[in-house]
Amino acid sequence: MNHRRALRAAVTVAVTGVLAAGMTMALTSTASAGTTLRASAAEKGRYFGAAVATGKLSTSTYVTILNREFNSVVAENEMKWDATEPQQGQFRYTGGDRLVSHAQANGMSVRGHALLWHQQQPGWAQGMSGSALRNAAINHVTQVATHFRGKIHSWDVVNEAFADGGGGGRRDSNLQRTGNDWIEAAFRAARAADPGAKLCYNDYNTDGINAKSTGIYNMVRDFKSRGVPIDCVGFQSHLGTSLAGDYQANLQRFADLGVDVQITELDVMTGGNQATIFGAVTRACMNVSRCTGITVWGVRDCDSWRGSDNALLFDCNGNKKAAYTNVLNALNAGPAIPTTPPPTDPPPTTPPPTDPPPTTPPPGTPDGCSASVSLNSWNGGFVATVKVTAGSAGTNGWNVGVTLASGASVTNTWSATASGSTGTVRFANVDYNGRLGAGQVTEFGFQGTGSGAGITPTCTAS
Ligand code: G3I
Repeated sequence: MNHRRALRAAVTVAVTGVLAAGMTMALTSTASAGTTLRASAAEKGRYFGAAVATGKLSTSTYVTILNREFNSVVAENEMKWDATEPQQGQFRYTGGDRLVSHAQANGMSVRGHALLWHQQQPGWAQGMSGSALRNAAINHVTQVATHFRGKIHSWDVVNEAFADGGGGGRRDSNLQRTGNDWIEAAFRAARAADPGAKLCYNDYNTDGINAKSTGIYNMVRDFKSRGVPIDCVGFQSHLGTSLAGDYQANLQRFADLGVDVQITELDVMTGGNQATIFGAVTRACMNVSRCTGITVWGVRDCDSWRGSDNALLFDCNGNKKAAYTNVLNALNAGPAIPTTPPPTDPPPTTPPPTDPPPTTPPPGTPDGCSASVSLNSWNGGFVATVKVTAGSAGTNGWNVGVTLASGASVTNTWSATASGSTGTVRFANVDYNGRLGAGQVTEFGFQGTGSGAGITPTCTAS
C-alpha cells in the first residue's frame, strides 16, 4: 500500500469550516499561556506526543526538543511485530524498553504502536495462514502487551484494517483471512494482558466523514454494543494541502459512541496551508472533550518518513516553524477537558447505624476463594481470563483447577504459574497476586489451542 499516494488522494475539502469553529471556541474558552506544547496540552488535561526513532535518542538537538516539548512518545517502528518477534516465539524488546525508560525518566506517557498490522510483519508470519496465524497473532498480542503491562497509556491494538476506496469494508490481508472476528479477538487478548491500557483502533484516510471512517464507526458501534473492549480510536491524520471541513464533526461522532479519540500520527504537507492546517487540527481536538491527545509523526522535518514534504513542526536545525506557533496558540486558546465536579449535595443527615458490626461473615462470602472465567474463542483456539475472588478470610495464596476438553492444551499463561497443559491443569498465584484481602479480586489468563468449551474453574485458597 502506498501511503503517500493514498494520503494525497484523500484530502479534498477546504479548511474554512474548521477554522470558523476554532475562532468561536477561542472567544469562549479559558486562555492560558503555556510556552511549550507539553505544558500547554497538560494544562488542558491532554498529552502532546511525538513518534520517536530510538536510534536518535543520542542526537542532542533531537533529544533537547523531545524532552522540552513532548509529554508522550510512541515508537515509530520498535514495537511493531517484525521488531518485537523476529522469530516465532522469540521476543525482542530492546528498542521498546529503551523508549519506555526514556519516557519514564522524562515524565512522558507511552503510546504502544502497533500490536497487529498487515504491514511490518516478520517473514515467518507473512507466510502463515488460518488457525496457525490466528494463534500466532493472539499469542503476539498477549506476550507483547504483557511485557509492557502497566507502562502503556494506549495501545494501537489493530492498525489499518479497513480498505481505501468507497466500500467501507475491511482490507484483505492474511489476518483478515483468518476470520472477520480477528480484530475483536485481538482486543480481548490485549485487555486480558494489560487491563490498564486504553485499547485503540488506528487508521488513516479517516480525516472526515467518508466511507472508510463510516466503516470503522460501524465496527466501533458494534463492539460497544457487544461489550468488545475498545476504548479509543486513533486518527492518523497524514494530511495534504487541505483539511476536510467535517474533520471535527467526524471526531465528535466517534466520541459520541463512548470512546476516546486521539490524533495519532499527525503530519502535514508543506505549502501555504501547512501552519493553518496544523492549527485547525489542534483546535478540532480541543473542541472535542474526548479528544485526549495529539501525536505528531516525528520531531524535525528531517526525521519524517515524508522526506521532502517537510511535514513537521521543527525544521532540520530544530527551529520552531509557523506550524508550531499555530499549534501552541490553539492549545493555549482551547478549553480544558471537563473534570467531573465534586458532588454539591450536602452529606446525608441520617445517623449512622447503631447495630454492632456482624461478627460472622455475611452469607454468600465463604472462606477460601471462588473463580469465574470469561472466554474469547475462535475456531482452533481460545483465551481464558479467570477472575479469582477471595472469601471472607482473604488468601495468602490460591490455586485454580480447570479441566480442558479433549484435544485442548494450554500454550501460555500470564499472572499465574501453570502445572500441566492438557486434561486437568492447575494454576497457582505468582508472587504479587497471591495475598488478597476479604472479597478482593485478581485476574490471570491463559491461551490454549483446541476448544475452550466447558472450562469451569474451581478455586482453593491457602
Ligand atoms: O532499519 C532498516 C535498515 O536497517 C535498512 O538498511 C533500511 C533499508 O530499507 O530499512 C530500515 O528499515 C526501515 C524502517 O522504516 C526504519 O527506518 C524500513 O525499510 C521502512 O519500511 C520503515 O518505514 C516505516 C513504515 O511505517 C513502514 O511501513 C516508517 O519508518 C514509519 O514512519 C511508518 O510508520 C507508519 C505507521 O507505522 C502506520 N501509519 C503510517 C505510517 C507512515 O507510513
